Amino acid sequence: MSNRDEHVNQATPPDGEECGELAVRPGVRQPAHPSITRQQISDLVDNFYEIVWKDERLGPIFAGELDGRRPEHIAKMKSFWESVLLTTGSYHGRPVPAHMKLQGVEGDDFKIWLGHFRAVANETFDPDAAPLVIEAAERIASSLWLVMFGNPFNSPPQWPR
Ligand code: HEM
Repeated sequence: MSNRDEHVNQATPPDGEECGELAVRPGVRQPAHPSITRQQISDLVDNFYEIVWKDERLGPIFAGELDGRRPEHIAKMKSFWESVLLTTGSYHGRPVPAHMKLQGVEGDDFKIWLGHFRAVANETFDPDAAPLVIEAAERIASSLWLVMFGNPFNSPPQWPR
């Protein structure tokens, strides 16, 4: 098993964890890549949302949900990505209910979201680290897609590269 596979497996919450939480046993995961810094994560989130606010499809969805709460959302997302990529454990939110309540989101909106994320991640992280960050986002997107759109007869799409 390569180092990378090990990271992938360790990123999976152990059986019995509450589904809505990003909860992982302390100490079992390594940072996704040694080159990743908090400054890069801050830049990723700032630059990604600058694009998302202006996107003709996603912009209105975020604007409607986050009226007056954009700074809090940005801070929360920095903490989320620090927890995912640096295993800081600083994020204690509940992504599943946050997305299940959203109105007007369609399955293909995830492709738009990931397209922007991929572009900003490739600009932000070292070439060895960016694919790991993007794959993490794709896996989380697949989980969120399943809770929002899944049924026993479908699966999340292959995310376009
Ligand atoms: C079409 C795709 C998506 C849309 C439209 C969307 C929209 C939103 C919105 C509007 C919120 C704010 C909810 C609130 O505070 O009231 C939110 C929160 C959040 N989103 Fe997404 N999202 C999408 C995909 C993703 C993906 C792929 C990820 C992760 C890779 C993600 C991670 C999060 C997290 C961590 C929160 C904070 C949840 C919390 O703890 O409150 N989202 N999203």
